[in-house]
Amino acid sequence: MHSIRPATVEDAARIAVLGTHVWVHTYATEGVSDLFAQYLLTSFAPERIRALVTDPGVVLLVAEVEANLVGYIVMRFGSYHADVPVEIETLYIQDSFSGRGIGSALLTHARGIAMARTGNRAVWLIVNSRNEKAIAFYRSHGMTQDGIAYFELGGFKYENKVMVARD
Ligand SMILES: CC(C)(COP(=O)(O)OP(=O)(O)OC[C@H]1O[C@@H](n2cnc3c(N)ncnc32)[C@H](O)[C@@H]1OP(=O)(O)O)[C@@H](O)C(=O)NCCC(=O)NCCS
Repeated sequence: MHSIRPATVEDAARIAVLGTHVWVHTYATEGVSDLFAQYLLTSFAPERIRALVTDPGVVLLVAEVEANLVGYIVMRFGSYHADVPVEIETLYIQDSFSGRGIGSALLTHARGIAMARTGNRAVWLIVNSRNEKAIAFYRSHGMTQDGIAYFELGGFKYENKVMVARD
């Protein structure tokens, strides 16, 4: 059984490791290039995670199983897509814990926090267009595509879908 709680700065090392692991597992399917390594060491640096945890515009929730980190979600308030002011910046579940409802529980919890803060459960996010598993997951949660965005890394452009849940 999992539990969900807001992250603290003490979680930064675990979030950094889990985030790097999930990113590599999901996107570095042809191995880890130097470009990817530099990006990961910067993006998932513990000091960067600590800054997220203490940012008043961010809510970071962690999911634990028997006191170990198995997933997390990052919400950013005031980050707009059209009229929707809450972005789900990251939702990562360790692969060996996938399919147990933990991603769903984090997303539902996050949307409850959006409701409490903004009076609306609406959220938006971007997801790599090749990430069929995540796209199917978001669709199963009633999210629909609302445009295309590009993620740029080292001169490469990766197509992403913008997905929105309004209800
Ligand atoms: C995508 C992700 C967040 C889903 O989290 P999860 O904990 O595995 O998902 P859940 O167990 O809560 O799945 C709930 C529902 O989503 C749907 N779903 C999940 N995976 C699916 C898949 N591969 N295909 C179709 N539907 C799927 C199912 O309807 C499932 O309902 P069920 O319990 O009736 O089977 C997780 O797999 C993950 O972190 N992936 C790697 C990182 C990533 O891609 N993050 C998103 C980037 S934006």
